[in-house]
Amino acid sequence: MDLLRLSTYTRCLFSILIAAIFLTLQIPITHSSTASASTSKIYVVYMGTTNIKHSHLHHFYQMLTLVHGGSIQLAQASHVCSYTHSFTGFAAKLTQDQALEMTKMPGVVSVFPNAKTKLHTTHSWDFMGLATDEQMEIPGYSTKNQHNVIIAFIDTGIWPESPSFSDHNMPPVPSRWRGQCQAGEAFNASSCNRKVIGARYYLSGFEAEEKSASTVKFRSPRDANGHGSHTASIAAGQYVMNMNFKGLAAGGARGGAPMARIAVYKTCWDSGCYDVDLLAAFDDAIKDGVDIISLSLGPDAPQGDYFNDAISIGSFHAANRGILVVSSVGNEGSQGSATNLAPWLITVAASSTDRDFTSNINLGDGTNHTGESLSLLETNASTRIIAASEAYSGYFTPYQSSYCLESSLNSTKISGNIVVCRHTGSSSESKLAKSLVVKEAGGVGLVLVDEEDKDVAIPFLIPAAIVGTRIGERILSYINHTRIPTAHISTAKTVIGSQPAPRVASFSSKGPNALTPAILKPDVTAPGLNILAAWSPAIGNMDFNILSGTSMACPHVTGIAALIKAVYPSWSPSAIKSAIMTTATMLDKRWKRITVDPTGRRGTPFDYGAGFVNPTRVLNPGLVYDSQPLDYKKFLCSIGYNEKSLHLITRDKSTCNQNMSAASDLNYPSITVSELRDSYSVTRTVTNVGQATSTYRVLVSSPAGVKVSVSPRILIFKEYGQKMNFTVNFKVTVPSRGYVFGLLAWKKGKLRVSSPLVVRVVSSS
Ligand SMILES: *[C@@H]1O[C@H](CO)[C@@H](O)[C@H](O)[C@H]1NC(C)=O
Ligand SMILES: *[C@@H]1O[C@H](CO)[C@@H](O)[C@H](O)[C@H]1NC(C)=O
Ligand SMILES: *[C@@H]1O[C@H](CO)[C@@H](O)[C@H](O)[C@H]1NC(C)=O
Ligand SMILES: *[C@@H]1O[C@H](CO)[C@@H](O)[C@H](O)[C@H]1NC(C)=O
Ligand SMILES: *[C@@H]1O[C@H](CO)[C@@H](O)[C@H](O)[C@H]1NC(C)=O
Ligand SMILES: *[C@@H]1O[C@H](CO)[C@@H](O)[C@H](O)[C@H]1NC(C)=O
Ligand SMILES: *[C@@H]1O[C@H](CO)[C@@H](O)[C@H](O)[C@H]1NC(C)=O
Repeated sequence: MDLLRLSTYTRCLFSILIAAIFLTLQIPITHSSTASASTSKIYVVYMGTTNIKHSHLHHFYQMLTLVHGGSIQLAQASHVCSYTHSFTGFAAKLTQDQALEMTKMPGVVSVFPNAKTKLHTTHSWDFMGLATDEQMEIPGYSTKNQHNVIIAFIDTGIWPESPSFSDHNMPPVPSRWRGQCQAGEAFNASSCNRKVIGARYYLSGFEAEEKSASTVKFRSPRDANGHGSHTASIAAGQYVMNMNFKGLAAGGARGGAPMARIAVYKTCWDSGCYDVDLLAAFDDAIKDGVDIISLSLGPDAPQGDYFNDAISIGSFHAANRGILVVSSVGNEGSQGSATNLAPWLITVAASSTDRDFTSNINLGDGTNHTGESLSLLETNASTRIIAASEAYSGYFTPYQSSYCLESSLNSTKISGNIVVCRHTGSSSESKLAKSLVVKEAGGVGLVLVDEEDKDVAIPFLIPAAIVGTRIGERILSYINHTRIPTAHISTAKTVIGSQPAPRVASFSSKGPNALTPAILKPDVTAPGLNILAAWSPAIGNMDFNILSGTSMACPHVTGIAALIKAVYPSWSPSAIKSAIMTTATMLDKRWKRITVDPTGRRGTPFDYGAGFVNPTRVLNPGLVYDSQPLDYKKFLCSIGYNEKSLHLITRDKSTCNQNMSAASDLNYPSITVSELRDSYSVTRTVTNVGQATSTYRVLVSSPAGVKVSVSPRILIFKEYGQKMNFTVNFKVTVPSRGYVFGLLAWKKGKLRVSSPLVVRVVSSS
């Protein structure tokens, strides 16, 4: 065992131990400092790119000593952990005043509290046009090299014994790999294999904030939650012959890049993931030599500034080292709720596939209705059905009881009956928990009325199905008008070919980008509704589970990115991202504009970005919109970052150009003009990655009330790798307000290099 490596990963654990000892010693001696210590919190002090000349720990202690009135002991006690490999900084316990003092110290870019981020809780590959067999090749290309692609999953860990993570047929681990397999509770160094090639865990940020950390299950990379195993297997799970959820969705299944390598960075515990731990994971993953980082988690909207957010910081350094970072957009659903907004991330929205899980609800009047469900139980043929509002109990009003809140139901009335309950998609109550409330009150079945998330299937504990308000009102009306209303709920079954598909899921967070409106977010959409994948047997004793969330959409894109990286190892993260975006489609399988749940309205790029990803086309994008680390720096200049902090972040000599470019000039694969007054021009550069000699013609669909002209209209390439510029001119023709949408595509034969156009017209007065 390499001692040096051992000490680097335990550095955070050791310092927290020391901090605890020092604090106990200090308390009786200095009362004033205990008073201030009681109001102190954990902060991250971020100091930009690693400057190898410093002796880091010594320097960090010096800084801490200054804010602790010269006490070296207090300084050491307050230090939580350090980041030194891929960027510089540390975490420490500070009062608000001390944190403020820190921000003024030389070398400090930002100081921010240890915020908690949330997890954004396979047939899907068939649906996207990739064969679900063991071979999994894209016609015309060999993706065999995917065993050289290493994907980092920053998540809840992994269940390495799952058949999805078998290393069957995998060649030896790439020699460039510098990560490790960190042993811990129920996890040995030998738990890794040629599939799961590395595994680490981080809990200093979590332990510093939560008392429950001491009783946490699996202080090791082992997954106690299921989320991490699920996301890793969607992106890179091996082929499993008979994967199913209690018999539903049965069939062979595998991840997008089944031969890619998995490196696990467990930073998320049951309550969420802390910034301090996320940064430590990025710091290691970049150093370990991963190619792609997949993050199915994010901050709550509104997201903080780019350099006060652990994911933005970590992914910025990753992008600068040639690592693509794929993230989920969030599950908040509403307009403007999108997170993971940095342009160096590819941010993924969630949509449906054409597979659905439904139960029939047969009413006593002979009518049949279909609801969404994963429950394999069924009620007796004709069971009494009642509205929960009729069974209100104690102090609860009929309205409150209609939502089947805990102890709101009168079991005398419920017993032996099917109960109709309401649910609002935005509520935090769990639908699964509602089936438990009904079950405990003696109910034998549940019809849950939820317009918002009526397409999210839930593994209910009793016979149950989810319906929208239209069907819900019909069932309630039947109950109202019938002396002895009865119903039967059948077991859930798998339905393939449901239409329309794909649809954007109602919970998927939407644009515009609240931080930088000139950058469209989300970037693309991928399957994230009712996805079957590997699970942690620690929860519910199941090997596989069906989950919904942008968390599940993100690893679909991760898997596709791994295939691109396998075929084109030299492509930059932005070229890979461009290939995924410009080949995506805004049309569903009926060739109509993709719609959005629950209302079925026509979608816009704020719902799906450049569209639904198409893995069969990503390997032949024709042209790519490439950007270099320097371009991100220009972008940061353009949105007002000062040169001093930029210098610390990048540690290079370049300065912000006096002729400030605009954020919309970043060479992004989508084009957004967030304030069009009269006219405005945007330039882009495309790089030829297709045939050496090729001619592309422009195809424009202008947003309503805006004239779009492109110059030149024809691009003639003579060689591979050649770059060409073009300008897109926008001119208001019919003044309007609000956002309008269009499309720009470079066309060569059947090939389309498509970019969404997003314009907000503002009155010029
Ligand atoms: C770890 O190793 C020990 C000793 O060889 C063994 O008893 C245990 O089952 C192993 N645990 C796992 C999770 O592999
Ligand atoms: C309703 O479903 C039952 C079986 O589930 C079937 O026998 C009956 O014909 C159906 N009725 C209608 C009106 O579709
Ligand atoms: C179904 O009917 C049988 C026989 O009438 C009865 O014993 C059983 O309890 C019923 N089950 C439920 C869930 O109501
Ligand atoms: C429940 O309903 C029964 C029968 O209608 C009634 O007698 C009882 O008082 C109710 N209990 C509560 C707690 O509301
Ligand atoms: C059922 O009847 C009650 C009162 O009789 C009424 O308030 C309610 O709106 C009715 N619900 C439906 C769905 O018809
Ligand atoms: C700024 O723009 C002007 C005019 O376009 C040009 O002459 C000048 O060289 C530019 N300055 C820099 C520093 O690029
Ligand atoms: C494209 O534009 C960039 C920046 O304006 C410029 O540096 C570059 O030379 C241009 N490339 C071509 C092929 O015209």
